[in-house]
Amino acid sequence: MDPLIFIIGYITPYIAFFTLILGLMYRVVRWLSIPVPFRLPVAPAPITYTGVLKGMSLDFFAFRSLLKGNKKLWIGGYVFHVALAITLISHIINVYFHELWAVIGYGWYEAVLYSGIFFLAALSFLLVRRIVLPNVRYISKLSDYIILILLITIVFLGVYMRSFGLVDVASVSEYMHSLLMFNPIPPPGNIWFLTHYVLAQILFIYIPFSKVSHLIGWILATTRNMRNITRWRRHVNPWDYPVEVITWDEYYQKFKDELEAIGPGGERR
Ligand code: HEM
Repeated sequence: MDPLIFIIGYITPYIAFFTLILGLMYRVVRWLSIPVPFRLPVAPAPITYTGVLKGMSLDFFAFRSLLKGNKKLWIGGYVFHVALAITLISHIINVYFHELWAVIGYGWYEAVLYSGIFFLAALSFLLVRRIVLPNVRYISKLSDYIILILLITIVFLGVYMRSFGLVDVASVSEYMHSLLMFNPIPPPGNIWFLTHYVLAQILFIYIPFSKVSHLIGWILATTRNMRNITRWRRHVNPWDYPVEVITWDEYYQKFKDELEAIGPGGERR
């Protein structure tokens, strides 16, 4: 077998998968271990758990805060994220539960292609916006462009091979099953698929190191997930550990000699 095919078909898929999972787990553990000594919800914040859940669900499903801030960006960002979710779900169905399409209806399978086209349009809008608007260009970093270009390339290849039926999905599915069983068979030797696949692996490896892992960060955002109850319940810092507290008199007795040797301005007498 071609050594390159061996590497991208047998080795790097596992590296990509485990980097993604372990990398995201590492980030969550790090975020969770950062002390949050204060209750700092962004006002006006809900006072009940149901309110918090409602607020966070609205943020999650409608991107409410972005909608309030920038309507055009909201449209681009929203279409992009919905298309991404549809793509991820349909990929899992395509690869592991292909029979499900018969249950859901093949009309939905057709619709996924249109979602891919919207995906591409939204990504192109986000990229053009970064390049064209001077204020957005000013705050854009190389990594902002890299992730968009990477996604555009992956999605373009996906839509292209899907539109022209360039890959046999059944053989991709068979190969993906074999990976899951840790007994890989050679991947389909189709250049469109292999390029799409390698770029997706690069994306998976990159995600934990990039700002794309913001989904989990958002769930852990203490300014959003805490209730606004500071007025009637004292927030006790959960990171406070017991410390020995002494009175001024005790302190004075303990360090009497040193204190008396120091003048009012701090100079030694
Ligand atoms: C393990 C990684 C991946 C594999 C094995 C894979 C495989 C495939 C295959 C075989 C197709 C053609 C489907 C068909 O003809 O019915 C496809 C299409 C597509 N892929 Fe992927 N893909 C992967 C990752 C991704 C990622 C990460 C994205 C985007 C973020 C993506 C976006 C798309 C899009 C938009 C299409 C066209 C519409 C559709 O059928 O979903 N793919 N992919």
